[in-house]
Amino acid sequence: SWTPANIAESLIEQVREQVGDGQAICGLSGGVDSAVAAALVQRAIGDRLTCVFVDHGLLRAGEREQVQTDFVAATGARLVTVDAEETFLRELSGQTDPETKRKIIGREFIRSFEGAVTEVLDGSEGTVDFLVQGTLYPDVVESGGGSGTANIKSHHNVGGLPEDLEFTLVEPLRLLFKDEVRAVGRELGLPEEIVARQPFPGPGLAIRIVGEVTAERLETLRAADRIAREELTAAGLDSTIWQCPVVLLADVRSVGVQGDGRTYGHPIVLRPVSSEDAMTADWTRVPYETLELISTRITNEVSDVNRVVLDVTSKPPGTIEWE
Ligand code: XMP
Repeated sequence: SWTPANIAESLIEQVREQVGDGQAICGLSGGVDSAVAAALVQRAIGDRLTCVFVDHGLLRAGEREQVQTDFVAATGARLVTVDAEETFLRELSGQTDPETKRKIIGREFIRSFEGAVTEVLDGSEGTVDFLVQGTLYPDVVESGGGSGTANIKSHHNVGGLPEDLEFTLVEPLRLLFKDEVRAVGRELGLPEEIVARQPFPGPGLAIRIVGEVTAERLETLRAADRIAREELTAAGLDSTIWQCPVVLLADVRSVGVQGDGRTYGHPIVLRPVSSEDAMTADWTRVPYETLELISTRITNEVSDVNRVVLDVTSKPPGTIEWE
């Protein structure tokens, strides 16, 4: 019978058979899929799995700790963290075009990941033959069903990798849907903050700052995003809302009045959406009281922000993210 426990057990057994006594690596993004895939493989092969987490400095408040502390505590997985914030900020400096920002982030991510993999390879006795990925059934269908071997290069379409970094893919979730992945994650003891996490884009907060990405702007956006998430959760809206991007319009200023004087600050946009699959979406009718709380807190607590606006556009025509 289909129970999360049965599924988890049989997936762990399959991983054991596939990997044998080999070594594997897995990139953690902070998202559900990679966390559950890594947790399954860890159960199957223990410390022969190394997890790699690239902190690009574009994460939300608390996300690094969630991986480094909560994920590790729940799974006992071996984790290598790459501190790449400075590199990412340097490469992003002066860039305002959304596609350019995404390309830079993609390229730097692969560089950081490669660097960590090379280190793992140097430090291990044998070779690392397996790359774990959190591919789900809908991803398999979308990409035409192929599985097998991959090198990081072809997977991410980025050049410059040595020939010998070629991996056999381990994709324990490839027959599962998202709900099933969450159920398996709970079965493996992963914390609810990881298992129930809403979608968050790989390029992170960088594509939620309209304009150049700087450390200071990231700080501002992170503070506003934390407040919005706290209040939406407190209002019990996490399962109603698919995700709620919080966007900083860094190139826009408007006049305000705060305390004793006139301010000239930036707007924050709230973009709560309801969706089934992110292909289409509608803006979520968040209760006025909750919007009021979020607006009051953000303008009181986040310096440089003097206005909060609500995005009431469906997708199409608007995308969920602003960049
Ligand atoms: P859009 O903005 O295209 O977003 O309506 C659809 C869904 O995809 C997420 N998204 C991304 N996820 N890398 C990701 O991993 C990306 O570059 C990226 N861009 C958008 C977005 O958060 C939404 O869930």
